[in-house]
Amino acid sequence: MKNQIKIIETCAQMREYSLNLKTENKTIGLVPTMGYLHEGHLSLVDAASEKCDAVVVSIFVNPTQFGKNEDFSKYPRNFERDIELLSQKKVDAVFFPSAKEIYSENYQTYVEVEEITKKQEGEFRPEHFKGVTTIVSILFNCVKPDVAVFGRKDAQQAAIIKRMTDDLQFGIKVIVAPIIREIDGLAMSSRNVYLSGKERKDALVLRKSLDSAVKMIESGERNTKKIISGMKGLYSKVDSAELQYIRIVEEKSFQEIEILDKGNSYYILIACKIGATRLIDNELIGL
Ligand code: PAF
Repeated sequence: MKNQIKIIETCAQMREYSLNLKTENKTIGLVPTMGYLHEGHLSLVDAASEKCDAVVVSIFVNPTQFGKNEDFSKYPRNFERDIELLSQKKVDAVFFPSAKEIYSENYQTYVEVEEITKKQEGEFRPEHFKGVTTIVSILFNCVKPDVAVFGRKDAQQAAIIKRMTDDLQFGIKVIVAPIIREIDGLAMSSRNVYLSGKERKDALVLRKSLDSAVKMIESGERNTKKIISGMKGLYSKVDSAELQYIRIVEEKSFQEIEILDKGNSYYILIACKIGATRLIDNELIGL
């Protein structure tokens, strides 16, 4: 059955809509997205609707989180398809502001988390997280959610948003939902649409290298240099792959680790270009 979704295009209307929900004592779950939705996003919607009375999905391709030579202008967009997919879920409203609505001509304010933004993704996309934390703060202020749901595929982004939400006392519960994968293991991403048929197959090297790391850890390897070097071997066999990094970090601080310890949790993080498409993936390891 299709659900009627309210489309909201201005921040003032969004705030008014949320205020009305709150006067009815309804809790609000926000799922921030850049659109071109897939099963991964829809799983975030399900997580939000499990926790809250009302669900708002934001669709905004945020210019400030793209570097100069990145894919902002060609980032895939299909609003009608997104609404069609969301109308099959329990979604009350879609917040769909224009770039001008969010960033006025005289816009001057940015939100920056200082430490966990510097490494890994931060080394390759220096301005990215500043754009993410700025837009997420704006969305929090417009939607005023009780709960916000993010995907674990962007594990560093999720950790940064948690840090920011605590530091700035937003009073919002941040939920991080598991990665949703295609049947063959490729992590779902709006950017997968850029991959050619051959690249789509080559992209499986990310999942395969994570599987090989998990096997090494299961068989007792604790030295991260050895684990990473074992993983890297798989990339040299894939001609379209240009590995940017593999890092093993502590789950919360994103500090890189040399030896894995019992009782701790770690992320194995990968960023790799397949042809011209930059993909990221990760595995959360609890020992
Ligand atoms: O993960 C994303 O899609 C974006 O970074 C987010 C959180 C919607 C902010 O633009």
